[in-house]
Amino acid sequence: TPQEPAYRIGFSQRTTADTWRKTMLEGMNRELSFYPGVDFIVKDAGGQSAKQVEQIQELIGQQIDLLIVSPNSARPITPIVEKAYQQGIPVIVLDRRTASDQYTAYVGADNVEVGRTAGIYAGALLDGKGDVIEIGESPGSSADIDRHRGFVEAIGRQPGIRLVGKLAGDWDKRSFAPELTRLLTTRPSIQLIFAQNDRTALKAYRVCQQLGLDKQIRIIGVDGLPGKNEGIDLVDRGILSATVLYPTGGKEAIRTAMAILQKQPFKRENRLPITLIDSTNVQIMKLQNDKVTEQQIDIERQRQRIDDLNRTYASQRNRLYITLVS
Ligand code: FRU
Repeated sequence: TPQEPAYRIGFSQRTTADTWRKTMLEGMNRELSFYPGVDFIVKDAGGQSAKQVEQIQELIGQQIDLLIVSPNSARPITPIVEKAYQQGIPVIVLDRRTASDQYTAYVGADNVEVGRTAGIYAGALLDGKGDVIEIGESPGSSADIDRHRGFVEAIGRQPGIRLVGKLAGDWDKRSFAPELTRLLTTRPSIQLIFAQNDRTALKAYRVCQQLGLDKQIRIIGVDGLPGKNEGIDLVDRGILSATVLYPTGGKEAIRTAMAILQKQPFKRENRLPITLIDSTNVQIMKLQNDKVTEQQIDIERQRQRIDDLNRTYASQRNRLYITLVS
């Protein structure tokens, strides 16, 4: 049998704590199960840029054949990624970007488009008139910068919509709740919150609930994951008016990595599609997700069955051998 070439892929992930990143990793591992020869090393930076720089340095030291990186913050991570690239290590930038064009391929959705989609929807919800606030992603991340840019651009075309504040999302254990409470109580004109992810959107909803404003204030989130208290469920329960489905790109990152390693053609820019989910299409999204889950369970059962059959076969072959030699 031909020996499969062994590759070592290093993955520097900004954090593995949230559901979105867990889903990304599941997608990667599912795709990697087709390549048993690959050694996949995951480093979790715990949301700390300095730690992520150290971990990428470690990965370079471990002689990786390819680096996948999802940068916590754009600028601090840029020099080390450029260093890896200049040493000849192919680099795939996933989801968030660095501040450089020194990479082999990019996989992810366009975050300016995410912000723009939210801004257009906000305007439609408010009939082109009203005050809104935004709650961002981790500061300095390309996700935060680009979503904000797209949102501002879209509401800028609607003269009646005014952005009266942008809060930083929860990071480094600080909470936006007191600031949001102050804003909502001092400015009764606020009608909508654009939260740059669904986790933040749910927290913002709880603040509104405490203030008795949950029926008045509309909330738009981002991510659109399946599962309890995730984006699709929150739209379904009317807690969010909408969410922008932001694909994780886990599977696509591994596919691109394997194409690069096996010297096959690949695209440098892999822009993943986004979709707005609101009450008009949330049922379809739920049905589709249930189907996918069901199919995954079926695949798992089939795999189990094949394993069982292989085991039975092996033990029968053994018994036959024992019978023949005795
Ligand atoms: C997860 C996350 C997602 C968001 C993405 C942006 O760490 O915050 O919720 O869409 O990162 O990079």
